[in-house]
Amino acid sequence: MLKSRSSLPLAFLARLCVKLEAPMHNPRLDQLGDYFFRRLAALLEPVTPASDLNPIDLSIGQPLHPTPALLKDTLSENAHLWHRYPPSLGTPDFRQAVADWLSWRYRLPQHMLSPDRHILPVAGTKEALFMIAQVITPESKHAAKPAILMPNPFYNVYLGGAIVAGAEPVLLPVTARTHHLPDLDALEQDEALLARTVAFFLCSPSNPQGSAADLDYIKRALRLARSHDFLLIMDECYSEVYGGEPPKGGFEAAAALGGDLDHLLVCNSLSKRSNAAGLRSGFVAGDPDIIKTFNRLRSYGGAVQPMPVLAAGAALWRDEEHVRASRALYEQKFDLADSFLSGCFDYHRPDGGFFLWLNVGDSEAITRRLWSEAALKVVPGAYIGYADDSGWNPGAHAIRVALVHEKTVTEQALERLVRTLC
Ligand SMILES: Cc1ncc(COP(=O)(O)O)c(C=O)c1O
Repeated sequence: MLKSRSSLPLAFLARLCVKLEAPMHNPRLDQLGDYFFRRLAALLEPVTPASDLNPIDLSIGQPLHPTPALLKDTLSENAHLWHRYPPSLGTPDFRQAVADWLSWRYRLPQHMLSPDRHILPVAGTKEALFMIAQVITPESKHAAKPAILMPNPFYNVYLGGAIVAGAEPVLLPVTARTHHLPDLDALEQDEALLARTVAFFLCSPSNPQGSAADLDYIKRALRLARSHDFLLIMDECYSEVYGGEPPKGGFEAAAALGGDLDHLLVCNSLSKRSNAAGLRSGFVAGDPDIIKTFNRLRSYGGAVQPMPVLAAGAALWRDEEHVRASRALYEQKFDLADSFLSGCFDYHRPDGGFFLWLNVGDSEAITRRLWSEAALKVVPGAYIGYADDSGWNPGAHAIRVALVHEKTVTEQALERLVRTLC
């Protein structure tokens, strides 16, 4: 009795000591700030939106065009498969649909892509872009800390993955001078950095600026990856939202360089292309060694797409009609943006994607103002970009505006934005 009474405070003290010495979480997570949507919520929390206006959320890159009927039909036709655990490699049919689509879209030579060796389904590319760093980050490279390169501003998931994997995220500032893409001339000068680089994230068309890399640029990035033995990770999730020429992709560059897929990983999904962000269906494709190792990791801890989702995904990759219809809607909205914004805020019609990236000044202050005076929710560029050692954040003066609503709502939003800021 006595023993148990006295042992209680001792156990408590022991637990307290452990708590003081070693927090019960991975300390690398302390390097991650709050994800930017949380920061945005905190920024706007004390601000009351204009009460006479309906709030319009332009912050999330979540397409609100109609969900294709094909998606609902295929899901219900395959409803008898919900009980099955799906394999992490997905179904042969899904992989074949993706291989066929990639081959058609990028005019690849026959047999360049093997559905079994080069393609891996993922539950949306977010998880893949996060997890890939764990696949490719060694303890050190040439006796130095491994570096993972990414543009700045950028999709912040790249940074989270790099940090948790123990790599150093190296942010390459992008500005209008380099068409909002990392400056490869500058990168090529930095031999020491290239020597310890294990991966380079390249988003094209880019989020947030919508800049598409041309074929020469992607070929050059891939050659650099091969000569310095790192993985070029092409984030192509906006590849099907464009107005003019279809954006070039990583596989086109690989084909132009002889057809090998080593040192290349391409990520894409149905979220933007098929207005199906909630489906969580995407793929990674490319270097067969990486695909194999990635599948090993994912078979332990990756989210897999359920069987009906794989069936719906295959059907959607085989259909272009709904994609063309959706593109036409974006075109109408960018026509509106042209008429409202030409000559203002360095507006440019992007090569691809559905964001406006507007140079408005102090991005946090303007975000608050748009919410309070116009009931418009946008993302401050300061939250998508990161400050360098000198304190310069290449996103600090811009806001990101997602043209994801239907045309009439978008028109209202643009009209309010211009009325408030001009
Ligand atoms: C640049 C970029 N990459 C990847 C993703 C992830 O998309 P998903 O996980 O829906 O495929 C997003 C989503 O907003 C994005 O903007």
